[in-house]
Amino acid sequence: MASDEYSFKAFSEHAFYREVNEALLDRADLRRGWTVVDVACGSGAATALILEKIRGARDTVVIGIDMSATALRDARQKVAGVYDAVVEFVQARAEELSKAVRRAADAVVFCNGIHYIEDKVGLVKEVYGTLRPGGIFAFNTGFFEGAMPPETQKYYRRWMLKALRKLKTEYNLSPEHTKVEARKQLSPEQYLELLEYQGFVIKSQEIVRTAVPEQGYVDISRFSDFVAGALPGVPIKTASDVLVESVKETFAEVGGMTAWPRNWLSVVATRP
Ligand SMILES: C[S@@+](CC[C@H](N)C(=O)[O-])C[C@H]1O[C@@H](n2cnc3c(N)ncnc32)[C@H](O)[C@@H]1O
Repeated sequence: MASDEYSFKAFSEHAFYREVNEALLDRADLRRGWTVVDVACGSGAATALILEKIRGARDTVVIGIDMSATALRDARQKVAGVYDAVVEFVQARAEELSKAVRRAADAVVFCNGIHYIEDKVGLVKEVYGTLRPGGIFAFNTGFFEGAMPPETQKYYRRWMLKALRKLKTEYNLSPEHTKVEARKQLSPEQYLELLEYQGFVIKSQEIVRTAVPEQGYVDISRFSDFVAGALPGVPIKTASDVLVESVKETFAEVGGMTAWPRNWLSVVATRP
């Protein structure tokens, strides 16, 4: 299986994922004619939503940034039919945003990726430096302290224990004891502090509750970054297969549930 099959694309096409990103973009109040940067644009799910909102004006520019060439290829395909806005993609790290984007942006959008960034203080500074005064920073994440409603924690534990057991008994493997960045979760308050420390003014902060269906967990178990976070150091195919089988078994055992709730932190801030 080629490594590019372990992409975020299938997960990003779920209706609940679209809704959570739409809610963020509505709050951000993006305008036609703006230059909007979509950081860690992945396969372009949010890029397409941004374009739906602001395409059709001569000056509209949307710039997608991602460090993955494979993700950018998918993103380009996703928006291939857009001719009434300028769309550009740049392969770069979010940590180097102000170098990658050489004009003052009206808005920076960061959907479901900020949790990957180790130096979040540096990231927020880069975003600030990329925005014009009055510009908007909007981000959401499903990986923060509080993302997992307490009543669902037992399902996640069961899923992960099952995966570890399978890995040991069927493959004689164990994950490494490293903690990847996405698993060191910040609280909503810590995110707000980071923004305010840099000088941002918070416009809105919400916890959006979604229902992630079984297929959503299957699809996220086919996404390389998630797999590497859940079972670090295990070969991707084995880790992914084990996570998929384990989540299906967990849903079957729990019975009667077709989706587990998950919270997303959704924040919009302004550069004064
Ligand atoms: C979970 S996906 C989200 C993609 C997209 N924003 C969406 O909502 O569909 C995370 C993306 O972040 C990218 N990524 C992770 N760390 C990054 C970094 N430091 N700089 C740029 N992109 C990064 C990955 O390549 C991946 O495409």
